[in-house]
Amino acid sequence: MSTKFFIIFQFFIQIAVLQKPFSLKTDDNGNYFLYVDGNLWLGSAPTFFRDSGQLFSAGDGSLKLFYTGNEVGVDKLGNFSTRDYLYRAGKKEMFVSIRHYDDPNFLVFVQNYTDGGNGTKAESFDEIISGFPGFRIEDGVVDRGYLSFGGYMLGDTNKIIGKWGNKTKEIRDGLTGGPLVIFDKEANTLIISPLTEFMVASNWHDKEVGGNIYWGIMGGVDTVPHHYTYLTIVYYAKGINKAFDGWGKALKKMYGSKENSLAQDLTLHRAGYWTDNGAYYYYKTEPMKTYEETMMNLINKTVNTFNYFQFDSWWYYKGLSGGVKLWEPRPDVFPHGFGYFYNHTYSLLALHNRYWSKDTTYAKQNGGHYDFIVEKSGALPIDQKFWNDLLNKTLTWGLVMYEQDWLNVQFNRITALKTNLTLGEMWLTQMNIAAKANNVVIQYCMANPRHALQSLTLSQVTQARASDDYSPGGEQWRIGVSSLFAHALGIAPSKDTFWTTETQPGNRYKKSEPYTRLNALVATLSTGPFGPSDMSGHMDFDLINKTCIYYGQLMQPTKPATAMDVQFIKEAFESTKIEVWSTYSVNMLNDTALHWGTILAVDTVGDVALEYSDMEFLVPGVSYAVYNYNDPSSIREFKESEKLVLPNNCTKTDFCLYHFVPKMNHGDNEIYLLGDISKWVPASSGRIRSIVYQEADLLINLWGAAAEEITIQYMLNGELKSGTCPIKTTGFNCISMLTGKCVY
Ligand SMILES: *[C@@H]1O[C@H](CO)[C@@H](O)[C@H](O)[C@H]1NC(C)=O
Ligand SMILES: *[C@@H]1O[C@H](CO)[C@@H](O)[C@H](O)[C@H]1NC(C)=O
Ligand SMILES: *[C@@H]1O[C@H](CO)[C@@H](O)[C@H](O)[C@H]1NC(C)=O
Ligand SMILES: *[C@@H]1O[C@H](CO)[C@@H](O)[C@H](O)[C@H]1NC(C)=O
Ligand SMILES: *[C@@H]1O[C@H](CO)[C@@H](O)[C@H](O)[C@H]1NC(C)=O
Ligand SMILES: *[C@@H]1O[C@H](CO)[C@@H](O)[C@H](O)[C@H]1NC(C)=O
Ligand SMILES: *[C@@H]1O[C@H](CO)[C@@H](O)[C@H](O)[C@H]1NC(C)=O
Ligand SMILES: *[C@@H]1O[C@H](CO)[C@@H](O)[C@H](O)[C@H]1NC(C)=O
Repeated sequence: MSTKFFIIFQFFIQIAVLQKPFSLKTDDNGNYFLYVDGNLWLGSAPTFFRDSGQLFSAGDGSLKLFYTGNEVGVDKLGNFSTRDYLYRAGKKEMFVSIRHYDDPNFLVFVQNYTDGGNGTKAESFDEIISGFPGFRIEDGVVDRGYLSFGGYMLGDTNKIIGKWGNKTKEIRDGLTGGPLVIFDKEANTLIISPLTEFMVASNWHDKEVGGNIYWGIMGGVDTVPHHYTYLTIVYYAKGINKAFDGWGKALKKMYGSKENSLAQDLTLHRAGYWTDNGAYYYYKTEPMKTYEETMMNLINKTVNTFNYFQFDSWWYYKGLSGGVKLWEPRPDVFPHGFGYFYNHTYSLLALHNRYWSKDTTYAKQNGGHYDFIVEKSGALPIDQKFWNDLLNKTLTWGLVMYEQDWLNVQFNRITALKTNLTLGEMWLTQMNIAAKANNVVIQYCMANPRHALQSLTLSQVTQARASDDYSPGGEQWRIGVSSLFAHALGIAPSKDTFWTTETQPGNRYKKSEPYTRLNALVATLSTGPFGPSDMSGHMDFDLINKTCIYYGQLMQPTKPATAMDVQFIKEAFESTKIEVWSTYSVNMLNDTALHWGTILAVDTVGDVALEYSDMEFLVPGVSYAVYNYNDPSSIREFKESEKLVLPNNCTKTDFCLYHFVPKMNHGDNEIYLLGDISKWVPASSGRIRSIVYQEADLLINLWGAAAEEITIQYMLNGELKSGTCPIKTTGFNCISMLTGKCVY
């Protein structure tokens, strides 16, 4: 290492502290400090590695630092320079490094088992075998809050939002832990997560209260190959949503975007009928009928609305401990099989699957044809041919979506998954390869954050459940936080099924659903599957049609609605739980993208005033108007000096829904296009396909279905107007914003 280089490095860092909102300081002893706006946010905790059955820590000197240096390099995230530390753990060399890039908003922390490791395992699976980066959890000059994902359903079920500092207790860690988000009242935000090796990376909180938080390889791993490398990213932005967005962009830069897969996923663009937990027909048929008859009856009645049917775990063979033994329809359920069902209904399918039972007949150990790991509490396929054959046979079934449920349980039941560095990734990759070959997409359900992060590398995983199972009248619609995580990963969050009418006679849950409208709205705003599950004859098609047009085509916004920054700040600093989400719809005016914004508020208390700058969907330089969805005549200009004050009585039955409309000009005319207000998302690009500016007119190009009559609301020079256009055959018609007349 050259001393000269080191001096330059220090100089660079000081400049950074002065100029950049996010900066790093390091010293020669292996310590590092992260600053936000010149204030210390995170100071390092001692680096450690395990080897030969021992813990080597820089804290007690057992991990010896013998070289510091710096280098330059390039990776998928760009050019970087580094701060390097070479340590000795007994006889082994361990290399760690901090990369900082031309883009000053993130840092990457590198661990490299230069000499490999043997006897590395920790006391428990939930601990880690290596810790770098590690940060002290303590108070600072600036008050901070945090969000820690944990549990399953994208880390939603056990997530926690609280105050960051000496008294912090609960940070979700170990096998079910997830990304950590730290923010202040101005929404300066850091997100810390693995950047590679998702299936084996964990975080670990070393004390009950306060203490340190570390990232490293999960505790069950006992041998590590030479040069094994693991990366953690720390991403900064001013704005919690902005930080998720930027962090997600960095992840997608590493692993590629899945926009094409999402565009091709029929279940994200068409309504389906669902039969999973919470559904009327979950482990329940019509009296004296088989499932085959029950479902065929239903399909005959709903053929114009539901494009696919989701069949849950009630149709296949189960073995020991409730695992799947054979993934084939049982004769008592579908006496004629799925091929027959498809031939008689042409209905596409989304099929559920779960963890493999120890006695699965696919495993060679049980007389089957395929390589499996079989352990005392379950089994795991390790054979690409298995997955290929499993999904190939679904070609005649009309399968479009394979739902891999119980991901957390599959992971937890198989010790090999918790001790092997490559097996977890191999399992999910083989599934994905077969899905791709057979042209099906995958929904993840009960995904721990590690599965969710791994989905970045898996082209077919387009969606994931974002909250626990639906229960009529329940709380599982609260997906605004986990939707941020899903969207950053480039997948659609699923709120799960819901009922569209309150009362469903004879339902197995003995429950009712008072919040049908909220559930339908949330499913729409999620951009994930829209899947009612009512009893036959108990569907509210008027409600369904606020989202769907003919053949179940969904009228959604452009991105999932996500919790706004104010929701996190209120919860962390004031312990006030409100739901305030936003999203937008993009439509093209010739070559310009215009944004229509949407805000949903539920459970408001006090006067929450949203500033202009809180509405991240508002495009600078464009003027906007806002209206309350219940009353389009409330439309008014929304100036930069204004606030949107949310009433304190937005509830689950009377939620508050606002839409923001960009101003368009044509000659001297000022036009605000509200859109088709019979839909929850009036300006969905599902309806408005383009806006065409002509010298003599401003035309809205509308998509509709045969025999539909589309009514569009707009404000022309301060006057609210409407125009109606019939659609003869499914396709387009145009309406003039100057005359309100149909053009074709
Ligand atoms: C890295 O730096 C080199 C040399 O300055 C430059 O040519 C290259 O474009 C940079 N690469 C990236 C990804 O920024
Ligand atoms: C790991 O350590 C064990 C016990 O000391 C030894 O038998 C084994 O050969 C070592 N393996 C490697 C890969 O070094
Ligand atoms: C927080 O804990 C650190 C030790 O981790 C200690 O130095 C500091 O004084 C504590 N601060 C407060 C406000 O208790
Ligand atoms: C790990 O460190 C070794 C030794 O310095 C180096 O040769 C190797 O390239 C590093 N591996 C990675 C993936 O950075
Ligand atoms: C559903 O409709 C198809 C086609 O019209 C018909 O053949 C079938 O018998 C009907 N099935 C039921 C269960 O009503
Ligand atoms: C479904 O229809 C196809 C094409 O007509 C036919 O080849 C196949 O045997 C049918 N499957 C069943 C199970 O009826
Ligand atoms: C991890 O699993 C893979 C795939 O089954 C296997 O090839 C490899 O030997 C395992 N590694 C260890 C250390 O057991
Ligand atoms: C599925 O199986 C059929 C018949 O064995 C074979 O021809 C086809 O290539 C397979 N398709 C895929 C995608 O593996």
